[in-house]
Amino acid sequence: MADRIDVLYSEEELDKRIRELGDEISRDYAGKEITLICILKGASFFACELAKHISVPVYIDFMQVSSYGNETESSGVVKIVQDLDDPIRGKNVIVVEDIIDSGRTMHYLFQILRTRGPESLKLCSLLNKPDRRVTEVEIDYTGFDIPDKFVVGYGLDYAQRYRNLPYIGVVTLEEN
Ligand code: IMP
Ligand code: MG
Repeated sequence: MADRIDVLYSEEELDKRIRELGDEISRDYAGKEITLICILKGASFFACELAKHISVPVYIDFMQVSSYGNETESSGVVKIVQDLDDPIRGKNVIVVEDIIDSGRTMHYLFQILRTRGPESLKLCSLLNKPDRRVTEVEIDYTGFDIPDKFVVGYGLDYAQRYRNLPYIGVVTLEEN
């Protein structure tokens, strides 16, 4: 049976908010060059759209991390599945993530990235679930604060499904 998905943010609402974030970042980094680190796979849709709306020079790199844990709960110990192509020493880095939930994954990843000597290191997340926070994480650019609901679409998955939905929706899992 199909899961029920209720739209939380439409494609138009996402587009509008991402343009605003791009403008804000472009202003903050005027005269500089940005290294965007897209966290695979979830942030890929967001990172591409965001990059299109940043007017200063952008270099894009990718990283895939997996957090040991079960499907809906991260453990805080992060394994780097795919590392960046290039060093970030001296770079103005913005990590682009899909959602900050417990905060464990980003807390741990930022500890690793800081040791690599970037000039600056900031976090941009499309979604934030503040009610679920376990570890303190400073988010410099947030798309939307959302309630404690499991969401899919626009890159976010449930068991690798629904990433391709053009909107963000709350998924209600059907029994059987
Ligand atoms: P954290 O370490 O608990 O902050 O985990 C963040 C990661 O959990 C995100 O990068 C997502 O992969 C996943 N995640 C957390 N909440 C959701 C959700 O509502 N939908 C899809 N993935 C989620
Ligand atoms: Mg993720």
